[in-house]
Amino acid sequence: MTQTDRTREHLIETYRKKAKRYDITSRLYPVPGYPQRTQRLRAIHTLGLRPGDTVVDIACGTGLNFPLLEKVVGPGGRIVGVDLTDAMLARAQDRIAASGWSNVSLVQADAADFDFPAGVNAILSTYAMTQVPECAEVIAHGAAALSGGGRWVVLDLKLPGNTPGWLAKFGTATVRPFAAIDQWIMRRPWEAIRAAMQEELADLSWTELFFGTAFLAAGSRALEP
Ligand SMILES: C[S@@+](CC[C@H](N)C(=O)[O-])C[C@H]1O[C@@H](n2cnc3c(N)ncnc32)[C@H](O)[C@@H]1O
Repeated sequence: MTQTDRTREHLIETYRKKAKRYDITSRLYPVPGYPQRTQRLRAIHTLGLRPGDTVVDIACGTGLNFPLLEKVVGPGGRIVGVDLTDAMLARAQDRIAASGWSNVSLVQADAADFDFPAGVNAILSTYAMTQVPECAEVIAHGAAALSGGGRWVVLDLKLPGNTPGWLAKFGTATVRPFAAIDQWIMRRPWEAIRAAMQEELADLSWTELFFGTAFLAAGSRALEP
């Protein structure tokens, strides 16, 4: 088993344990009082969705974004939720059944291996992409699948600029006890995400949120000439 496989197994085990209470505990994520819902609403607004659109939610977890996405795409649209962890998807399935949505489908897959459906209008990932070691490849695969003018939006946590290493370690250890913190700090995955989006998409916008502890990145696939 490679180090990547071991990290993935650990991540799945961690989210299996979290799945049952995720909807409640995630309200305290990364710390109590953090404006997560405001950030989430902003990310969804940034997608620029219209009724009837198809959107892919990468690493959708229990589907916390689904009600917000449903509101904009409506019953004529389509939502595809993708996640690695079976238990998180089981909660997402419960949400779909309870809400009576017939336009949401779920795929259990590693984002790195997911075959994006061609011609989607938008792709979203919230609080997950920095956990994916192959995040740059995922951005590229998604960008290739977008329709002309389609939007890719990533919202996730990051370290604020100029944070001393020891403080970063302390701070992130309190909010991400499950992740390989040292690796996350050293990899600085938000930089790879930014570079990949810059490379693959037109009109990249990069906004730092809440004192630089999160970022909202968005770009569109260029329209065919
Ligand atoms: C913090 S949760 C975020 C869930 C959801 N996006 C939200 O905003 O509530 C992170 C999710 O990412 C998923 N995940 C992590 N790495 C993944 C990967 N490589 N491929 C697919 N899903 C992944 C986990 O299973 C988990 O459900």
